[in-house]
Amino acid sequence: MKPRHFIDLADIDAATLSHLLAHAARLKKERAAGEFSSPLSHKKLAMIFEKNSTRTRVSFEVAMTELGGHVLSFNGSELQLGRGETVSDTAQVLSRYVDVIMLRCHSHEKLLELAENAAVPVINGLTEYSHPCQILADIMTFEENLGDINGKVIAWVGDGNNVSHSWMQAACLLGAEMRVACPKELAPLPDVEKWARARGAKLTIDTDPKKAVAGAHAVITDTWVSMGDPDAEAQMRLLAPYQVNDQLMRYAHKDAIFLHCLPAHRGEEVTPEVIDGPQSRVFDEAENRLHVQKAILLWCLGVI
Ligand code: CP
Ligand code: NVA
Repeated sequence: MKPRHFIDLADIDAATLSHLLAHAARLKKERAAGEFSSPLSHKKLAMIFEKNSTRTRVSFEVAMTELGGHVLSFNGSELQLGRGETVSDTAQVLSRYVDVIMLRCHSHEKLLELAENAAVPVINGLTEYSHPCQILADIMTFEENLGDINGKVIAWVGDGNNVSHSWMQAACLLGAEMRVACPKELAPLPDVEKWARARGAKLTIDTDPKKAVAGAHAVITDTWVSMGDPDAEAQMRLLAPYQVNDQLMRYAHKDAIFLHCLPAHRGEEVTPEVIDGPQSRVFDEAENRLHVQKAILLWCLGVI
């Protein structure tokens, strides 16, 4: 049987997504009450990071530990993978030692190759194409504040990047309206748009941030330069009109929240007034990474 990989939200149905979110909410309550169990006792997670990470690394490590399991963490260059061992051999060897693998890497194809050759579940810890674990935490945060996301309006302002792709997939699955405001040159990839449109998504991709934010329940942005982006200066120039600031937030719904996956660059994609202001939920969002990682691990390993 094929392992239960967690690669992209496009591979998962709405019922599974809701199941993961409900379980994450339950685990959050249990943790707050000091209730822990060890459903992953004797299970091992290997994490490979070819890019930096704070939240993904720490939340997965804490999640696995609190579920009773163990973690092995590597940067890409310290494994033989970093000096030419094939992805396929790495996948097959790691599968003999550990129960689940998480990879953060540049090329999405590399992640797919790892999953194709692994006998254990593989989790996407971010590629240049997508960041699905993040969006589970975002939706959890959204629903804690504004209830069911179905029918709500999500505004993405800035680079049409990996995080925006996963948001477009999630919004489509859960019936939220997604409005992307970005420079034409930095629009989300056409295949993500095509996938969403084929499923009847309520999706707008336009260049005007005010139009995107008008009446929106969540305003979301991300760094203007993602890890591995080749031309930081050109990107910063194109994105200058897309800063999320107080003026822009005024167009949003009165109860709107601000989200950002972090790390943030105050004074670039967002002003301190917004990210450190009353509408911001970025630290709840970061905390929720922990609760959703647990749900993802349990799902991948067939416990839920
Ligand atoms: N949001 C997020 O994935 O953060 P890290 O890069 O710190 O893991
Ligand atoms: N888009 C950012 C997200 C970081 C968590 C990047 O890929 O660098």
